[in-house]
Amino acid sequence: MDISGLLADLVGNTPVLWVPELWSGGERGFWAKLEGYNPGGIKDRPALHMVAEARRRGALRPGAPIIESTSGTLGLGLALAGVVHGHPVTLVADPGMEPLMRRLLLAYGTRLEIVAEPYREGGWQAARRARVRELMAGAPGAYCPDQYANPDNAAAYAGLAAELTAQLGRVDVLVCSVGTGGHSAGIHRVLREHSPDVRLVGVDTVGSTIFGQPARPRLMRGLGSSIHPANVAYDAFHEVHWVAPAEAVWACRRLAAARYATGGWSVGAVALVASWLARREPPGTRIAAVFPDGPERYFDTVYGDAYCAEHGLLDGKPEPEPEELPHPAAAEAERWTRCAAVTRPAGAAS
Ligand SMILES: Cc1ncc(COP(=O)(O)O)c(C=O)c1O
Repeated sequence: MDISGLLADLVGNTPVLWVPELWSGGERGFWAKLEGYNPGGIKDRPALHMVAEARRRGALRPGAPIIESTSGTLGLGLALAGVVHGHPVTLVADPGMEPLMRRLLLAYGTRLEIVAEPYREGGWQAARRARVRELMAGAPGAYCPDQYANPDNAAAYAGLAAELTAQLGRVDVLVCSVGTGGHSAGIHRVLREHSPDVRLVGVDTVGSTIFGQPARPRLMRGLGSSIHPANVAYDAFHEVHWVAPAEAVWACRRLAAARYATGGWSVGAVALVASWLARREPPGTRIAAVFPDGPERYFDTVYGDAYCAEHGLLDGKPEPEPEELPHPAAAEAERWTRCAAVTRPAGAAS
């Protein structure tokens, strides 16, 4: 029996759920694509695809090691790809990785390194990537997928876009969180073939540099970055929203209590923005929002009262409207903020 093939077959064909908007419920709402139904989360798709393509091109030889920087979700996907294709996997993370995620990655047989200090320029991400380069230099034949710049990351989402089209037909607005930029770029590109007018709305965290805001320490993981990943398709975005951690916590908890849907920081942030769009867009507008993962790794953060109280994240309902910025760098976003003029920040590769 081909056990590897059976494992890989578990990835994809995730369900969609109708979510009434979070403020008041009622008629308006959006469709959530539940990527938490993959064995590891949304990143199972790019992990399998990047590894398969590298093997096909000969960049990854049979049995050679895979080394990558991750906040967690891609690590789960690479652990899966390592088992499916027979490669040892080394992951480089930072101290913010949740204990549950660390244990899970070790249980799945990966080697895990935690960097000790952020870099002054580029923060934790730059520190993680520098360590990956060191490890690569000491391991001839090793392969680094480089999820931030590898076009196979974005290309891996063609299947997700096809699933959305089969499930929903026409899509008018696609709402995606942005970390490496992979899923927003890849889904939007393919969705346009069937829904040529689909608008892409990006969701980032306050304190992230991706769309031109200054870097600040960030609590939310998964979405956001301290670098400018080359996979971000700046030209494709119609607007961007920055969400603060307390707002994402409110949305996550409301989603769970009222809609029986759960997930992490990016799920809460995306649900908040998709709910607002559902109130604001004309009736009948079909909004699809991507929920990247499930709740497990967030039990002690998003769903942990002690953690939330310690970080002041239980302050209640967000404002019903975002702050508006005329330009992404016009002011520093402190709370939920929107900008309808997305530009490529100075310093981002074109
Ligand atoms: C939980 C979670 N949400 C959102 C994202 C952002 O996705 P992307 O890297 O495709 O932009 C990530 C990326 O690691 C993630 O792990």
